Amino acid sequence: MTDLDTFIAGLPKAELHLHIEGSLEPEQMFEFARRNAIEIPFKSVEEVRAAYEFSNLQDFLDIYYAGASVLQTEQDFRDMAMAYFDRAAADGVVHAEIFFDPQTHTDRGIPFGVVANGLLQGMADAEAKHGLTSKLILCFLRHLDEEAAFKTLNQAQPWIDQIAGVGLDSSEVGHPPSKFERVFAAAGAMGLKRVVHAGEEGPPEYVKEALDLLHIDRLDHGNRSLEDPDLVARLARSAMTLTVCPLSNVKLCNVESIDTHPIDRMLELGLRATVNSDDPAYFGGYVGDNYRAIAGGRGLSRTQLVTLARNSFLGSFLPDEDVARHLATLDAYAEAHA
Ligand code: HPA
Ligand code: ZN
Repeated sequence: MTDLDTFIAGLPKAELHLHIEGSLEPEQMFEFARRNAIEIPFKSVEEVRAAYEFSNLQDFLDIYYAGASVLQTEQDFRDMAMAYFDRAAADGVVHAEIFFDPQTHTDRGIPFGVVANGLLQGMADAEAKHGLTSKLILCFLRHLDEEAAFKTLNQAQPWIDQIAGVGLDSSEVGHPPSKFERVFAAAGAMGLKRVVHAGEEGPPEYVKEALDLLHIDRLDHGNRSLEDPDLVARLARSAMTLTVCPLSNVKLCNVESIDTHPIDRMLELGLRATVNSDDPAYFGGYVGDNYRAIAGGRGLSRTQLVTLARNSFLGSFLPDEDVARHLATLDAYAEAHA
C-alpha cells in the first residue's frame, strides 16, 4: 500500500450510492445457488467474472437481474448485506445509504418482507459489529410502469418507518422521471426522501425533470448535467449532492477512462460531488477502490479527497448532529495526516 492508499483507507466516509444486489460477488452467487438449489447459467466463478464486460447500462442490467435470482431467503439478503458491510467497514465507511430493488424479487415470488427483514437484519448486525450505521432506500424499477411502483410502495407500508427514502433506477433512456411524478409525490407525502438516477445515460433534461417534477433531495450520477452550464449553476447554487460512481462510469462506457473522469471538474464547478461504488461486484471495486482509482487517474490531492469525504456526510440523510460529529472526526483525521 502506498501512503495515499493508507490515507484513503483511513479517511472516514459515507457511501451514498450502492445497490445492495450489485454487491453480490460471484462466490456468494454460487453459494446461494447451491444452498437454494437454483440453476445459474455459469459453470464457475471465473466464467461469471468473464461475463462482466459491458458496453452500456442495459448489458449490465440484464446480467444483474439474472444474478439476483439466487436470492431466496431472509438469510440470503442478510448475508449479502453483511458481506458488503464488512468490505465497506474495511474501506473506512462509517455510514451507508443502500438501495434495494424490491420489484426484482417480488416479481419472482419473493415476499417484500423477506427482502426487507433480511436487509434490516444485516444492517443491525453491521452496526453491532462495526459501528457502521446505515439507511435503506427503496428503488422503483423505471422500466416498469407507475402502477407497479404504487403497488410496491403499498407493499412497503409495514416497514415504512425503517425506510429512509425512495429512488429510481434501471434503464434510464426512454423512462424519464416524469413517468413517476405521482409516485414520488405520494412518497414525499409519507415523509420519505427522494433520490433519482438521472444523467447517467439520459440527457440533462432528465436531471431537470428530477429536480422540478420529482423534487429530489439528492441526484444519483448526474454526469450529463455537465453538458448544460445553467443546470450546473443551478445544482451548485442549491448545493445538490451528486452521487458519482467513477468505476461504474468507466465499466458502462459513460466515460472513456478513469484518467478523463470529470470528478475534479465537478468540484471546480462547485458541485457537491461524492465518490461511490454503485455495483461493486460488477464494476471492479468497492468505494475504497473508487477513491484510489480516481486519486490515481486524476492526480487528486489529499485536500480534494477530504472534500469528497466531507461531501458524503453533508449529502447524507443523517440528522445534523450526526453529520457534525462525522465532520469533526474527518477534520481531525485530515489535520493529523496533512
Ligand atoms: N443505473 C441504473 N440502474 C441501476 C444501476 C445503475 O448504475 N445499478 C443498478 N441498477
Ligand atoms: Zn446506481
